[in-house]
Amino acid sequence: MEETTQKVLYSAVQPSGNLTIGNYLGAIRNWVKLQHEFTCFYAIADLHAITVKQEPALLRRRTLELAALYVACGVDPAACTLYVQSNVAAHAELTWVLNTLTYVGEMERMTQFKDKAARHAENVNMGLMDYPVLMAADILLYQTQVVPVGIDQRQHLEIARDIAIRFNNRYGETFRVPEAYILKEGAKITSLQDPVRKMSKSDENPNASVFLSDDRDTIMRKFRRAVTDSDDRIVAAEEKPGVTNLLNIYAAFKGCTVPEAEKAFQGFGYGDFKFAVGETVADALAPIQAEQQRLLADKGYLAGILKEGAARAAYAARKTLSKVYRKVGFYRGE
Ligand code: TRP
Repeated sequence: MEETTQKVLYSAVQPSGNLTIGNYLGAIRNWVKLQHEFTCFYAIADLHAITVKQEPALLRRRTLELAALYVACGVDPAACTLYVQSNVAAHAELTWVLNTLTYVGEMERMTQFKDKAARHAENVNMGLMDYPVLMAADILLYQTQVVPVGIDQRQHLEIARDIAIRFNNRYGETFRVPEAYILKEGAKITSLQDPVRKMSKSDENPNASVFLSDDRDTIMRKFRRAVTDSDDRIVAAEEKPGVTNLLNIYAAFKGCTVPEAEKAFQGFGYGDFKFAVGETVADALAPIQAEQQRLLADKGYLAGILKEGAARAAYAARKTLSKVYRKVGFYRGE
């Protein structure tokens, strides 16, 4: 039985900030790929989002927009469980129990906590410090085997594993200990203005990042202004980070290799090259944006998907949580 079923995979994304084409090529497209290989639970992590200040109306809107975006990009609600984290109470409930197996000192030492505490010095709240425990609860509730993680979440997964092992040692086998699923990282997408730096959703330079919500004119303008260099060769090379980034973007959206992209642009000047890359991106995003808008206009349909997702997630999560409550000695009424 166990061998014939797919492995359980867990991933989540916070509904904060505008997503860039880098997020699309990295995170979003992976969700679409992985949903057929694994039994996937995909959450919109609103409980995590409020560890930094959020505008309530905006948080709610972004949650819905993000759900619509993922579905528009090809996340199939029939093939995976797509839900909003706060709609499944077990996440907060398990977090409480796991808190009692987590040490203040180890949370204080987490790299992301230290970074965020420095950046939000006026709001170093308990939730911010507890962030990794909530993440452990997310993962452990579903008896997850694999978690796709980029470098920035590696430490959080490590702590989730430690907590699982600690619980199992103290109370007996309860949680499956999750493994990292190392993503075949595609080319890193960098800033159009400072192409040695990663493209970021919070860059101050408005021309540095291309957002999934940008319209065609905006996309074309940003690519027109993209930094290249002073010679005129269109080849990928370490000393040509701007041109390399544009080739990577083109190749990723076209589904071709970088050498194929280089060949396609033989004899082009930089102006025409940037125009062609911009058009490729705009053409790829247009149908996604249209589908996202269509979904957002049909609130009932999205609400239905998320309700169904939350019900499925809650059912799976409740099984683990009941076991946990029994193991720790909570009175269960019988
Ligand atoms: N902290 C993750 C991020 O910001 C989002 C997240 C929340 C997550 N819960 C998770 C990722 C569980 C993987 C597994 O990217």
